[in-house]
Amino acid sequence: MKALLLNGSPRKGNTCAALEALKKGMKNMPELEIREVKANDISVSPCIACEVCGTNSSCVSDDDTNDIIEAVFAADIIVFATPVYWWGVTAQLKAIIDKFYCKAESLHGLKKKIGVLVIGEAEQEDPQYEIIPKQFSCICDYLGWELVFSKTYTAAAPDDLAKSEDSIREIEALWKTF
Ligand SMILES: Cc1cc2nc3c(=O)[nH]c(=O)nc-3n(C[C@H](O)[C@H](O)[C@H](O)COP(=O)(O)O)c2cc1C
Repeated sequence: MKALLLNGSPRKGNTCAALEALKKGMKNMPELEIREVKANDISVSPCIACEVCGTNSSCVSDDDTNDIIEAVFAADIIVFATPVYWWGVTAQLKAIIDKFYCKAESLHGLKKKIGVLVIGEAEQEDPQYEIIPKQFSCICDYLGWELVFSKTYTAAAPDDLAKSEDSIREIEALWKTF
């Protein structure tokens, strides 16, 4: 089994802490191959709607797009982890998601389990914690992927989440949903 962890944060902060906790829990999954990709560390240009891909081939971008789309294609488990930027996911993560378009036809109906981790500084009453999970649930419905968890956390300073023992414990246990 392969797990792809897509980290939307450009810094070593709360999203990293969330994924560290998840990876700790995932050690309980024998023979799981985990690949974490920091969206900010790769080069994925925004989709320009050139339509050359025809939604069923490779992307013409001469960057890391095709490598990451292959990893998405091959993964049994995909975790999207993102800070909230302006009520949405980060641009770095969105650029990757937009590029799903180049293989959208073949990504449809593949057996994939999806997890979503969203971290913002606003309190949990903020609509951002409905908007972002809703976006991922729409994507999963569209592609026929199974959304197994969608968790939101409040943390502002880079070390806030790591200091929240309850949150870290909850994230560590999420591997059981896969
Ligand atoms: C450009 C930018 C936009 C942000 N927009 C929001 C926002 O709309 N809502 C929110 O709650 N926090 C917002 N934040 C705060 C981050 O989501 C928050 O600090 C988060 O914990 C950062 O995660 P990280 O440490 O993994 O990078 C924003 C931060 C930046 C840098």
